[in-house]
Amino acid sequence: MRTVYVNGAYLPEDEAKVSIFDRGFLMADGVYEVTSVLGGKLVDFAGHAERLKRSLSELDMAAPMDDPALLEVHRELVRLNGIDEGMVYLQITRGAPGDRDFVFPDPEETPATVVLFTQSKPGLAANPGAKQGIKVIGIEDQRWGRRDIKTVQLLYPSMGKMMAKAAGADDAWMIEDGHVTEGTSNNAYIVKGGAIITRHLGTEILHGITRAAVLRFAREAQMVVEERPFTIEEAQQADEAFITSATTFVMPVVEIDGAPVGGGKVGPVATRLREIYIEESRKAAV
Ligand code: PDD
Repeated sequence: MRTVYVNGAYLPEDEAKVSIFDRGFLMADGVYEVTSVLGGKLVDFAGHAERLKRSLSELDMAAPMDDPALLEVHRELVRLNGIDEGMVYLQITRGAPGDRDFVFPDPEETPATVVLFTQSKPGLAANPGAKQGIKVIGIEDQRWGRRDIKTVQLLYPSMGKMMAKAAGADDAWMIEDGHVTEGTSNNAYIVKGGAIITRHLGTEILHGITRAAVLRFAREAQMVVEERPFTIEEAQQADEAFITSATTFVMPVVEIDGAPVGGGKVGPVATRLREIYIEESRKAAV
């Protein structure tokens, strides 16, 4: 059984409890982070900690602990659960005020709820799926407008994954005003004539921590990066396509709405970026 963390305590998962009045439960009033673990160490912890602080401040929530304390909880859970490859999930909500009310509770009276747990995924880095690639479909982006805040309101992304599954695909790319925003739980990219194209940052997408690292490595390797919107049609005609996230790293996309991309085979750019990302992440993990 896993050991999880809830509000200062390390407990067996079946003993960890959160109030039914928790605003995360009643109102999706909370934020989260997913940090991957490679070789028992945390990948880009600093990036996730930074984005967490931004998500909290955009929602007028105080950070319940500082970065060193947060790192310590992450490390302790990895240690207690013997995680070699996998993830640490962190969620912070606006707490449980003891009743249901739309108005935010006074933070002096209602402390945040802090929950962390690990997910063991042996073979995450060596994932054979990365040699096959995944299939995606295009769906309308029906999420709220502040997608740059990593909130726990994941109903539409969850529905998107179900739409993909029903269509015999692995995931969905969401489309707004004719252009791809991002994947249901990842950032989306295409490769054309050697250039890596991905949507520019803004409130329309989550500012992926993996995205930032991958674009940095691409530029360091002298690859051309264009941060701009693209359409599904442009993606279908691209040489390659891929996604990035803390749980998939760099994952090639070989089919979009039934049309093969790059002849339906995993291409060299996505393959190389995945190698560089995993290699560099292992080196820099803490
Ligand atoms: N999802 N876009 C969305 C909508 C996401 O939910 C995620 C991450 C990303 C990629 O961000 P990062 O590279 O920082 O993981 C982009 C996490 C992994 C999840 O919900 O499980």
